[in-house]
Amino acid sequence: MSEPITTAVVGIGDISAVHLAAIAGNPRVRLVGVCDVDPERAAQASERLGVPGFTDHQSLFDALHPQVVHVTTPHHQHVPVALDAIEAGVHVLTEKPVGHTVAEAEELAERARTASVKVGLVLQNRYNPTSVAVRDALASGVLGPIAGGRASVWWSRPAPYYAAAPWRGRWSEGGGGALINQAIHTLDLLLWFVGDPVTVRGKAANLADDTIEVEDNATIVIDHEGGPRTVFFATNSHHTNAAVELEITGRDGTLTLAAGELRLTDADGTRMLATDAQADGARSYWGLGHALLIDDFYARLDDPEPFWLTPDVGLGALRVLRTTYAQSGLLPDGTPL
Ligand SMILES: NC(=O)c1ccc[n+]([C@@H]2O[C@H](COP(=O)([O-])OP(=O)(O)OC[C@H]3O[C@@H](n4cnc5c(N)ncnc54)[C@H](O)[C@@H]3O)[C@@H](O)[C@H]2O)c1
Repeated sequence: MSEPITTAVVGIGDISAVHLAAIAGNPRVRLVGVCDVDPERAAQASERLGVPGFTDHQSLFDALHPQVVHVTTPHHQHVPVALDAIEAGVHVLTEKPVGHTVAEAEELAERARTASVKVGLVLQNRYNPTSVAVRDALASGVLGPIAGGRASVWWSRPAPYYAAAPWRGRWSEGGGGALINQAIHTLDLLLWFVGDPVTVRGKAANLADDTIEVEDNATIVIDHEGGPRTVFFATNSHHTNAAVELEITGRDGTLTLAAGELRLTDADGTRMLATDAQADGARSYWGLGHALLIDDFYARLDDPEPFWLTPDVGLGALRVLRTTYAQSGLLPDGTPL
C-alpha cells in the first residue's frame, strides 16, 4: 500500500470533530498535527489524538510539512491560513465561507487559480442525494424552461451558541450571521440549481437577538441568468432546526424538497426522486455530506484538475449575501464588500 497522505487540522472547535472523524475513517490519510490559537485546546487535542499540537499554523507547517491542511477556524481566519498554506506548498480544504468579505475571498480565489496545490471548499450539501437528484432532473430537461423558485432555512441559534464562541456574533470575525454562517449552504444550492445571480435585492436585519451584532433574519429576491427569479428566506430565530425547504418550478414540472425528500410533480402526478438520510444527534442539520466531500477531496488529490469546489465556486453565495448586508446598511463603516 502507498504511503498515507499526511494531514493537519487548524482550528479545534465544534466542526473540527467532523473533519477529524472523516480523517480517522479514511485509511489513506494520517493525521500528523493539530493547531489552535487557544493553548489549552491545542494541548488537549494533541493529547487526545496523539499528535503534536501547535498554537500557530506556520509553526505547524514548518515543523511537520503536512501534505494537506483542514481550515476549521472562524471566518476571518480562513483566508490568512489558506494563503500561508499555499505559500508552504500545502493542499487546503477550508470550511465555508471562502472568506468573511468578498474582497479577501477574491484574493484567495485568484491565488488558488495559479497555485501548485489544491484549494477545496467545504460545501457538503452539494453531496446530498437530493442535491444530486435536483441537478440530474434539471439536466434531463424534465422541468422545461425554469420560471423560478424559493428556498428557506428556519433554524435556531439561541444565546448559548454565541456565548460559546463570540466571534459568531461579530461583524469583524464572522462577517455576518444567519446568512454567512448557516443559510449559505442553501443559498449556494439555489445558485447551483437555478443559475448565477444577475440582480440581488436583499434585506437583512437583527430582529430577535440583541446579544449579537450580526443579522438573524434575511429575505433576498434574486434574478438569475436567463430570467428565473427566486426568493430566499433565512432565520436563526426559529425554535428548532427545521429541514431546509426548496422548490424550483418550470413550464413542465416542479421539484419540491421538504423534510429531506425530493419530489417531482408534473402532468403524470407526483413521485419521489431522492431522500437524504438523517444524521443522528443534535447537529443532524449539518447533514451527512462532510465525510463524502472530505473523502472525495483526498481521492482526487492526484488529479491534474482542480478540486471541483474551488474558492471561485464559493464566491457566488458570498457576493449575494454580502450585497444583501450592504443594501440593508449593515456593513460597518469602512468594511469592504
Ligand atoms: N459546513 C458546515 O456545515 C459547518 C458547520 C459548523 C461550522 N462550520 C464552519 O467551521 C468553522 C469553525 O466553526 P466552529 O463552529 O467549529 O467554530 P469554533 O469557535 O467552535 O472553533 C473555532 C476554533 O478555531 C480556533 N482558532 C481561531 N483562530 C485560529 C487560528 N488563526 N488558528 C488556529 N485556530 C484558530 C478557535 O480558538 C476555536 O477553537 C467556521 O468557518 C464555520 O462556518 C461549518
